[in-house]
Amino acid sequence: MDRLIINGGVRLSGEIRIAGAKNSALPILAATLLTDDLVTVCNLPHLYDITTMLELLGCMGVQPVIDEKLNVEVDSSTIAHFSAPYELVKTMRASILVLGPLLTHHGCAEVALPGGCAIGSRPVNLHISALEAMGAKIIVEDGYIKASVEGRLTGNQIFMDMVTVTGTENVMMAATLAKGKTVIENAAREPEVVDLASCLIEMGAKITGQGTDTITIEGVERLHGCKYSVMPDRIETGTYLIAAAATRGNIKVKDTRPDILDSVLSKLEQAGAKIKVGPDWIALDMHGERPKSVSLRTAPYPAFPTDMQAQFTALNCIAEGTGAITETVFENRFMHVHEMNRMGASIKVEGNTVIVEGVEALFGAPVMATDLRASASLIIAGLVSEHETSVDRIYHIDRGYECIEEKLQLLGARIRRVPA
Ligand code: EPU
Repeated sequence: MDRLIINGGVRLSGEIRIAGAKNSALPILAATLLTDDLVTVCNLPHLYDITTMLELLGCMGVQPVIDEKLNVEVDSSTIAHFSAPYELVKTMRASILVLGPLLTHHGCAEVALPGGCAIGSRPVNLHISALEAMGAKIIVEDGYIKASVEGRLTGNQIFMDMVTVTGTENVMMAATLAKGKTVIENAAREPEVVDLASCLIEMGAKITGQGTDTITIEGVERLHGCKYSVMPDRIETGTYLIAAAATRGNIKVKDTRPDILDSVLSKLEQAGAKIKVGPDWIALDMHGERPKSVSLRTAPYPAFPTDMQAQFTALNCIAEGTGAITETVFENRFMHVHEMNRMGASIKVEGNTVIVEGVEALFGAPVMATDLRASASLIIAGLVSEHETSVDRIYHIDRGYECIEEKLQLLGARIRRVPA
């Protein structure tokens, strides 16, 4: 298994480009199953999860084609199987996103039931109950969600008990081809939901209210092909900005969207960063100063994202003062904490809050990545450590960060990948 070796102590400086958003690209690729026409998806990030989604389409008989500009063309008219096998679902939970499109367009779907993962139990009961309320017959048997509908799904008033991102996306996709009107209440407001809605509208869907907690979808008879460019990745953007702040650096990230990062930019300013933004770039300068600790609480958008919690924990490790970080979205997203303490951090876990007392320096150690964002946080910890850090199990990072060591090298970091 590959490892990343980091020799910390360098202040990050320079410019990098941000890739397309993983969590937009995955539902948009699933949405290509809603039409028999050609859909071209541009600005896809080069990530392991994207490859897995393309593989999943492939195993259903859909052959995505990569064109000369690295855009992906999907013609799903050749679909032959309506099933997402366990071998793929176990490596990527977002495979559940094919459930809604398959069911509404083809009347049947079998998707392996995703299990728990390193950050929580992550059930999909709300996806299932919403589709049932739209007329689907669903049984869970032999580890699979087996869904079917006679004729078309029927629009309904759906109240989501919890704010769920992929749940909202699944129901929104299913509703595009349902009979009549669907109203999703307590919908996720995440920018990735809005990006998916924009793509669906390009395909002919009738959707309003995306970006608010009530999304209304008027079902149509059919959707058509389109060409759609995935929005920039806000979590990748935030991760590099936090890395720069932690190392007292000065960087500019380009091809991004400052307007969807308010909660993160405001925490970085509290940490002492000077931030400037343009239409598609963000510049951060610490003027060489040590960051100040911040306290925060994760919650659905527009509040502070759970996907950036671990990275801020890393920043707090070496910041001035003490910060409290509360995780409210997932029940077990503190696996990185124990690795950071092995690097000399002073972190206490109290229920769903971690209290981080900033220390002057961390010390490199061999550490193990447990999930995608935890891996990113351990890399940030390595960047602010004395001596060498080796991060093991980095397949997690390749699921969600495109060429991370190359981008960090561009910013001056001493980081290299060591093949197994
Ligand atoms: N939940 C339920 N029942 C459901 C669905 C969700 O109880 O049927 C609970 C979950 O267990 C969790 C909460 O609701 O406690 C929110 O989970 P959500 O469904 O919103 O998460 P998700 O859709 O599975 C997406 C992202 C995650 C991100 C979360 C929260 C994708 C592909 N994944 O997951 O991204 O953390 O929303 O914003 O969009 C990552 O990129 O590293 C990542 C984990």
